[in-house]
Amino acid sequence: MIVSSIVATSLNHAIGKDNQLLWHLPADLKFFKATTMGCPVIMGRKTFQSIGRTLPGRKNVVITRDKTFNSDNQFDILVVGSLDEALVKLHAEKEVFIIGGGEIYQQSMDIVDTIYLTLVNIMIDADVYISEIDKSKFDLVWEEKHLADEKNKFDYTFQKFERK
Ligand SMILES: NC(=O)c1ccc[n+]([C@@H]2O[C@H](COP(=O)([O-])OP(=O)(O)OC[C@H]3O[C@@H](n4cnc5c(N)ncnc54)[C@H](OP(=O)(O)O)[C@@H]3O)[C@@H](O)[C@H]2O)c1
Repeated sequence: MIVSSIVATSLNHAIGKDNQLLWHLPADLKFFKATTMGCPVIMGRKTFQSIGRTLPGRKNVVITRDKTFNSDNQFDILVVGSLDEALVKLHAEKEVFIIGGGEIYQQSMDIVDTIYLTLVNIMIDADVYISEIDKSKFDLVWEEKHLADEKNKFDYTFQKFERK
């Protein structure tokens, strides 16, 4: 199984504020959808609540310490108590995506094989940041630069890193 993470950060490694994303970049949402479609997505409880719904076409796995979370089956999600438990339950999958947020990205840094990073060309204040990718452990294997346009307010670069 390939364990990938997918994240969008500003130049100063910010990823969220007030449990929301920091920008509206339709091109990145499209890239996220195309990249993760058909694969299980693993996320922290706060990110799930920030999205507010299950992501269609993907098994949604939510990590929480709250054993009663979704006990009324309001959402079509798999609730797990840790990242390890998620990976054990998904062991038969070809590829899984860790989709945030900050706590779950940090906990997965040592185990991910691949990181899809969208680097958004701004400096911005936030309340959730992630560490910079350790270039001694990951190689940049692909990147695609885009300029801002009518729909996407900031320049952004899609990058793919693979563990050395
Ligand atoms: N820019 C991006 O690409 C991107 C992507 C995703 C999210 N975000 C942003 O990131 C922010 C949310 O990130 P966050 O760090 O605050 O929260 P998070 O990682 O989404 O979720 C944290 C929650 O996950 C559960 N959790 C974490 N570690 C656990 C463990 N070891 N065992 C069991 N449960 C565990 C806990 O849930 P309980 O409290 O229920 O126990 C914890 O409160 C939001 O602003 C969101 O918009 C940005």
